[in-house]
Amino acid sequence: MPTDRTILVTGGAGYIGSHTVLELLEAGHEVVAFDNLCNGSEEALHRVEQITGKSVTFLNGDIRDRKALDRLFGAHAIDAVVHFAGLKAVGESVNAPLAYYDNNVNGTVALCQAMAAAGVYKLIFSSSATVYGIEAPVPYQEAMSRGTTSNPYGTSKAMVEKVLEDLSQADERWRIGLLRYFNPIGAHPSGLIGEDPKGTPNNLMPYISQVAVGRLDQLSIFGNDYPTADGTCERDYLHVVDLSAGHVKALQCLEVPGVHAYNLGTGKGVSVLEMVKAFQRVTGQQVPYRFAPGRDGDLPAFWADPTKAERELGWQARHSLEDMMRDTWNWQSANPLGYDERNSTA
Ligand code: NAD
Ligand code: WQD
Repeated sequence: MPTDRTILVTGGAGYIGSHTVLELLEAGHEVVAFDNLCNGSEEALHRVEQITGKSVTFLNGDIRDRKALDRLFGAHAIDAVVHFAGLKAVGESVNAPLAYYDNNVNGTVALCQAMAAAGVYKLIFSSSATVYGIEAPVPYQEAMSRGTTSNPYGTSKAMVEKVLEDLSQADERWRIGLLRYFNPIGAHPSGLIGEDPKGTPNNLMPYISQVAVGRLDQLSIFGNDYPTADGTCERDYLHVVDLSAGHVKALQCLEVPGVHAYNLGTGKGVSVLEMVKAFQRVTGQQVPYRFAPGRDGDLPAFWADPTKAERELGWQARHSLEDMMRDTWNWQSANPLGYDERNSTA
């Protein structure tokens, strides 16, 4: 039985949240998932139950709703919180900054207030490589300071990191993990859960898989004259199952008070063109593409130095790029319209 038995997972019905609920259940935890379903699906949690044969307590609610959080902590003996709930679309954040600061920053403040009121001081926060800012040298290392972010989404993540550091400074009971994700892609190998963005995808991998499944006509590759080997941007893509396993490992670091930041990535940059070619090779599906102008705010190339997570958490990304492509296609081909039950074949 794990030390921290019952885990509250905010945003547990979302992409990374649902995969992490699965890993937590497999590791022997009890899970309470809390999500307002603005970008998640309760069906994801039903499928997690189907895969694991274990049950999840689901509560529909908003992290900005203190009363709902107080009721939750009153009804369940929570030992630690893994906090995914938030908005994540970079472009949308430029047009609707207040929604991002409200959900991501105010929401986290409300969550921490409710945690403190309930005497729960262990928190894992979904941060992002974006907090290193636009001028950081690669590979990114945790010892680097946060840099200048280029959009309200990124700024909201950096602000939350600072809020949590100040909180830990003020009260040594807090034990906080800041997990800085690079580019999570892929799906559980069962093909039953995966990424199901609402509307047209902003991110590369779901765009590629939706072109392959016939939902979209063609991929636009944003920019081919970057200073990289083939002129397209390079990112550090990691399998969502590895990322989720990192959260289970990170619960261990909460034995030590204070704030602990970890990069979760593979340590390798892969270009957009290499991604398209790997997907075509592994799945046998064609992905028509064209080159389009670069996207505002995109950096040419960045990847993680993941050695701190390996040294301190015993965590490493284990899945290959081929695994990521195969599992993405497993999920997308079995669920062409995602969790939409009227059309899903899963
Ligand atoms: P997601 O949108 O699939 O999951 C987020 C979940 O939170 C959704 O189910 C949504 O309904 C829920 N939610 C949003 N606002 C809420 C609120 N106010 N109250 C309750 N629930 C709310 O996104 P994801 O890709 O699974 O990302 C999870 C977390 O990881 C986010 O905080 C995101 O910023 C962070 N992150 C994601 C990536 C990525 O590339 N996917 C990279 C770095 C960090
Ligand atoms: C990857 C590469 C695009 C779509 C974003 C956030 C980041 C983090 C992860 C949360 C880039 C190119 C994309 C397309 C393309 N999220 N691309 N055509 O931008 O690295 O990171 O998600 O924290 O904060 O900024 O990921 O998947 O959008 O793009 O050519 O249709 O694919 O230019 O080089 P990104 P992405």
